[in-house]
Amino acid sequence: MHLLTLEDWTTSQIEETIARSLDIKKNPSKYRAKLTDESLAMIFQKTSTRTRVSFEVAMTQMGGHAVFLDWRATNFALADIRDETKYLSRNTDFIMARLLRHSDVQIMGEASRVPVINGCCEKYHPCQAISDLVTIKEKKGTLEGLKLVYVGVHNNVCNSLIEGCTRVGIEITTVTPRVNEWAVDKGLLTRAKRTGLYKTTLDAERAVQDSDIVYTDTWVDMEFFLDPKFKEEKEKQIRQMKPYQISRELLKNSDAWIMHDMPIHRGYEIEADIVDSPNSIIFDQSENRLHSAKGILIELAEMLKT
Ligand code: CP
Repeated sequence: MHLLTLEDWTTSQIEETIARSLDIKKNPSKYRAKLTDESLAMIFQKTSTRTRVSFEVAMTQMGGHAVFLDWRATNFALADIRDETKYLSRNTDFIMARLLRHSDVQIMGEASRVPVINGCCEKYHPCQAISDLVTIKEKKGTLEGLKLVYVGVHNNVCNSLIEGCTRVGIEITTVTPRVNEWAVDKGLLTRAKRTGLYKTTLDAERAVQDSDIVYTDTWVDMEFFLDPKFKEEKEKQIRQMKPYQISRELLKNSDAWIMHDMPIHRGYEIEADIVDSPNSIIFDQSENRLHSAKGILIELAEMLKT
């Protein structure tokens, strides 16, 4: 009944959520009273723009209510996560948590009476991957048989994208000269390889040539981006990743669509004008966080009924 990683959901549940999210986008009024009087607790240990806004607006537009909790201003910061979660799940109908550690998201899932949604931890970003699949289906009309290349750091977004793509029949190639050690999930990669849809290479130019979609993400995880203690390491990472920037040069033989889950660091992982180029679907992708947040909440509500 949770969404801690995409592994928690069957392929049918993922596909149903994608289809429902697209219907929600076309016919929002049909879903206006879907969560009347229901409440979502949203707790954040890290910064967010899209995840917070999309889930809060999703609840409001479906007749419910969202409560924003900054971890540091709550007693989660002082007490046992289990106890605080037990309480939270007695006063709300859903919990969405953006935490530093996946192990804490799992503890919340164990302690909660209500569905817990992982709003992005160091290992996974399942809500982003669902929204990305919604965007691809919306733009291409299909998922199966498409080719997506992810160029960047192997991180939480990359993990969930691998899981999502290989579940719905998209071939995903990762070009990831750097791997965040805290994001490593060997089980996920073994499962993905078994599908025959997951490949990895360091030849970005070749990978991009026959791809339908090129996807990138920030090189530096949000919790480190402004941390002065991380400055030297951040500069080292940028030097290592610069040859893998999504640039006009890299895309010279490609007409692929460009995706980025945001926030964007223009001039780092992606050349600034590519963000606004005709092939960029980045802002449609970000808009779809709202429709897919509604789709995820409804899917979890439906799961509770069965
Ligand atoms: N992509 C994403 O999750 O955006 P935020 O970090 O702003 O929520």
